[in-house]
Amino acid sequence: MKVPHLLLGIETSCDDTSVCVLEDGVTLRSHLIAAQDVHKLYGGVVPELASRAHLELLPAMVPQALSEAGIEARQLDAIAVTHAPGLVGSLVVGVAFAKAYGSALGIPVLGVNHIEAHLHSSALEHGEAPYPSVALIVSGGHTELVRVRGFGDYEWLGATLDDAAGEAYDKVAKRLGLGFPGGPIIDKLAATGRADAFAFPRPMLDRPGFDFSFSGLKTAVSVAAQTHGEPPYGLSLLADLAASFQAAVVETLVTKCRRALQHTGAQALSLGGGVACNRSLRARLAEVCEPMGVTLRIPSPRLCADNAGMIAWVGAQRFARGEVSPPSLDAIASLEASGLPLN
Ligand code: KG4
Ligand code: ZN
Repeated sequence: MKVPHLLLGIETSCDDTSVCVLEDGVTLRSHLIAAQDVHKLYGGVVPELASRAHLELLPAMVPQALSEAGIEARQLDAIAVTHAPGLVGSLVVGVAFAKAYGSALGIPVLGVNHIEAHLHSSALEHGEAPYPSVALIVSGGHTELVRVRGFGDYEWLGATLDDAAGEAYDKVAKRLGLGFPGGPIIDKLAATGRADAFAFPRPMLDRPGFDFSFSGLKTAVSVAAQTHGEPPYGLSLLADLAASFQAAVVETLVTKCRRALQHTGAQALSLGGGVACNRSLRARLAEVCEPMGVTLRIPSPRLCADNAGMIAWVGAQRFARGEVSPPSLDAIASLEASGLPLN
């Protein structure tokens, strides 16, 4: 079977509402991403507010995405929607919308796994990865290191045992009195600080394997900050804390990636997730991959963070394999229960 000619992609798993029209599985005719600013007020994503915002935004964004693509709804051939994993209330909005819209138009709907989509999020710009490859997904909810043997053939090498990498960035930023999301703020601050100002731990580096842990590092930053009292802190202290924290996170991620590449012999490393926007992580990974002859595949920032484009790409591949979801398609919160093989 062929990939659908015009595919509507919908992503509502967390706090970004995103809609796209993908042509022939390769060209994004339109791609809208609305970040929900309401969560900034609370220093983190409030699930109840996220679902309500998806409910408001989605019915307006779908016609806009069609109009920007220069097509009408009746020209659509299929719909791909994130159905797992994520905030269940947010997922339900996208899945219910996709099923109703698909039913009204008489076109098939496919539920896509959000993590599988991050695994392949570099494909839209770089083409499908050569296999076997390794993928690192680093976001607010996930830190996953995966051997990708082929499309749909994944082996989980490692994951975080506690906080995700992005979650650690967000929590450290909150503790230091900075805004939300913390990643971009710390990334910027770190550029002006001294990475060796504080000797923060490099979690799990002394152990074999590919798992991560960021909770102790987050506590170490908090304890170091505590000796200087409560926020607001001076700019140079903040920059030093940010740079030292970031150095620990990046060294941990980079070391495990190098280990995974050596272990698998993969010739490509694909990044995905919001933390993949981090400038230091990108630069350090490039330094590791180059001498190993490994191709580093980093999506542009829009495709690193949550977006409908990556959902549509995976959806197109699955439709081409004859897959369609039954009308009972439902939202599933956890990765473990999402049906992706976790070998
Ligand atoms: O993939 P994403 O948009 O949403 C989730 O699925 O979580 O990732 C958001 C996460 C947040 O934790 C944010 O702080 C982090 O990505 N992030 C960054 C950077 N930009 C976003 N972390 C480090 N450095 C950045 N430049
Ligand atoms: Zn994500």
